[in-house]
Amino acid sequence: MDDLKSKYLTQIADAADEAVLEDIRIAAVGKKGEVALKMRELGKMTAEERQVAGPALNALKSEINSALAAKKAALADAALDERLRSEWLDVTLPTRTQRRGTIHPISQVSEEVTAIFAEMGFSVAEGPRIDTDWYNFDALNIPGHHPARAEMDTFYMHRAEGDNRPPHVLRTHTSPVQIRSMEATGAPTRIICPGGVYRADYDQTHTPMFHQVEGLAIDKDISMANLKWVLEEFVKSYFEVDGVDLRFRASHFPFTEPSAEVDIRCSWEGGTLKVGEGDDWLEILGSGMVHPKVLEAGGIDPAEWQGFAFGMGIDRIAMLKYGVPDLRAFFDSDLRWLRHYGFAALDVPTLHGGLSR
Ligand code: DAH
Repeated sequence: MDDLKSKYLTQIADAADEAVLEDIRIAAVGKKGEVALKMRELGKMTAEERQVAGPALNALKSEINSALAAKKAALADAALDERLRSEWLDVTLPTRTQRRGTIHPISQVSEEVTAIFAEMGFSVAEGPRIDTDWYNFDALNIPGHHPARAEMDTFYMHRAEGDNRPPHVLRTHTSPVQIRSMEATGAPTRIICPGGVYRADYDQTHTPMFHQVEGLAIDKDISMANLKWVLEEFVKSYFEVDGVDLRFRASHFPFTEPSAEVDIRCSWEGGTLKVGEGDDWLEILGSGMVHPKVLEAGGIDPAEWQGFAFGMGIDRIAMLKYGVPDLRAFFDSDLRWLRHYGFAALDVPTLHGGLSR
């Protein structure tokens, strides 16, 4: 029995893998294994002999079984260690020390504008860039033969012969989003909509695609005074100055009554723009009280509600704030220009953290 024990315990200790270990198990403690054969011999023994040999065989069997189990666990551990060693993967990446991408000034300014109006309770609304002429014109009180349609140099989408869907245009302004958000939320409402717009025009201050931000506030007793305060707060925050002087000039837009264009006091001393001082005036936006017909088109009862709206060129206010002389450069994708005028990706504009740094 001692021979059997040392033979199997050595074999188990030397076993290289689980398959070998299984063979050893069958040979030693399997149904027809050596220990089983020995157990069969118990029958031929005398009662006294059996009393000694029986427990000894059982002890041998359990000793071999626990050696097998321990070895099996050790082999599994070793196999896992080996896998961990061989399947090791470096998931870290070294950081790039050189700054590659920058935030485009248009994105930066859109974020700045959004941060300022968000602080005043405006949320951001969106609409499609390809819209029907109803949203872009009719609903905004610009009927079919209104001269404003021609003035806007509209891009019309091609329509195949027999296509009787309503005509679609590339939106010429963000004003159609006024209608869409009135439809979506009703009154009261307070939204801005920054986004791309299109007109067939191209020179130093015009590109066929440019950006506007629309504003709309509707409530029971909103007046031009509210409009003026909101715009003053906006201009102060945006140009990061303590005081501004706004001038409301009577104007005409089909979708507002009364309408006003808004100028800010500025100086161009030494070729750089200073907002809030000087003898020059800079036009920055169009605005007014929402025309009753426009409220009706948006499904809002003009007898009950009123509001103000405004529309401002994002590219234009970006040029003014960041001293960009030619609008076309915004869309040239010139890397040198983007490195010069771009913003660090992680400097998200907030009112408390600073809009631009
Ligand atoms: N949609 C006008 C444009 O593109 C800008 C504008 C003027 C928007 C007055 C308004 C507004 O909401 O009230 O020129």
